[in-house]
Amino acid sequence: MSDWYRDFANSGVGTTVTKQLGLPRPAVLRRHIPGDPLLPGPAVVGSAGEGRLRGELTSLLTEAGVTVLSPAADTEKLSAVLLDATGVTGPADLAGAHDLLAPALKRLRPNGRVLVLGDPPSETASPAQSAARQALDGLVRSIGKELRAGATANLVYVPLGAEASIASPVRFFLSGRSAYVDGQVVTVSAAQLPPAEDVARPLAGKVAVVTGAARGIGAAIARTIARDGAHVVAVDVPAAGQALADVANEVGGTALQLDITAPDAARRLVEHLRERHGGVDVVVHNAGITRDKLLVNMDTARWNSVMAVNLQAQLDITQALLDADGVLRDGFRVVCVSSTSGIAGNRGQTNYAASKAGIIGMVRAWAPEFASRGGAINAVAPGFIVTEMTAKMPFGTREVGSRINSMQQGGLPVDVAETIAWLSQPGSGGVNGQTVRVCGQSMLGA
Ligand SMILES: NC(=O)c1ccc[n+]([C@@H]2O[C@H](COP(=O)([O-])OP(=O)(O)OC[C@H]3O[C@@H](n4cnc5c(N)ncnc54)[C@H](O)[C@@H]3O)[C@@H](O)[C@H]2O)c1
Repeated sequence: MSDWYRDFANSGVGTTVTKQLGLPRPAVLRRHIPGDPLLPGPAVVGSAGEGRLRGELTSLLTEAGVTVLSPAADTEKLSAVLLDATGVTGPADLAGAHDLLAPALKRLRPNGRVLVLGDPPSETASPAQSAARQALDGLVRSIGKELRAGATANLVYVPLGAEASIASPVRFFLSGRSAYVDGQVVTVSAAQLPPAEDVARPLAGKVAVVTGAARGIGAAIARTIARDGAHVVAVDVPAAGQALADVANEVGGTALQLDITAPDAARRLVEHLRERHGGVDVVVHNAGITRDKLLVNMDTARWNSVMAVNLQAQLDITQALLDADGVLRDGFRVVCVSSTSGIAGNRGQTNYAASKAGIIGMVRAWAPEFASRGGAINAVAPGFIVTEMTAKMPFGTREVGSRINSMQQGGLPVDVAETIAWLSQPGSGGVNGQTVRVCGQSMLGA
């Protein structure tokens, strides 16, 4: 499923034609390849106001083998620009952000990264300070829309006391794992984190369940977290048995045929994990269905089936795992698949959008309990992802759907999988209750 237009726009003649006609030129995105350096070139780290993270950011980059240049340095091309904006006290301090970013963005290489860190706007009684902190959100989302050539801009809010939680999100947003994650805002929290993990195989020794693993995004998740070291228990309906077995074999995992909406599904899964694996570290709730109709034409069966698979099963299985003594291992992670339809709404998808919005509320509500038990629960909300399903869309609908985002192209299943694999890592425990869109900064639900 190649992107014919992106391939054309990046060909010799295509570059000339698209330039002359002012047509979009979607970039070939830098995706994660195991063994590649975190960044292919140098970075600058600067601050607006009296930031408290600049030193920490510099050491993080240096430890990852990145050359850190002074903002005022020469004209060398940059792979990343990091702005520590934790010191902003009012709108006047934002000029520091402008003064760092404006010249640095001119030097940004294709597939470059802009990452801003700030204090959460909610954590201050001062309206001026809250305004300046919230301003970072508008700044970053606009930079995301201005950048081209595969570059992204994202924001991490870091409350006082949560400084130790930044390493994992900083690495993710700079790496090729976040190729299709743009214009996102993640708030970290203080968490118990394990000693530094093996960056090449951060999930080594972990057992991970992936529902809906027989095909599409679920199969990509299984491949990606197996690559990162986990043993995958691949779950799907009995009707998908052969495809499920193929995926499980390919990733050296095991298959479990299970309809997640069956009345005994949660009990069977819990027993399977206890008996065969002695517990579980990562659960990825990916299985999902659509039954589209305008609400006025939607029968109850369509409504109920979507709610059952997309929302109720995730609630029931997660609750059963929390209730089962000793099945969730220390540092457990649950990652739930939502959708940008659950943020923006979508014509003909009231049932689907309601179920996917429900996921966002679910992870937010469960986050404190997960944190108190040393775990974390998050959601990813994919936008337009190139799958067999989207390949069957009419040409015009597909072209428009895949281009109306800052990357001017659809994402790949692996982009969703990489984000889930990141949230599953032991070091990502400071990311909890969040929903991260994997949508190339889609204009829908932006
Ligand atoms: N493809 C996209 O563009 C896109 C966008 C946003 C969100 N999503 C979400 O990503 C997830 C995966 O989507 P996909 O495009 O790979 O879909 P898909 O239809 O290709 O795969 C879904 C898998 O879930 C399984 N499944 C369905 N009902 C099940 C049940 N009751 N029990 C066990 N397994 C069941 C199916 O058999 C299938 O293998 C879904 O939650 C979907 O809503 C997809």
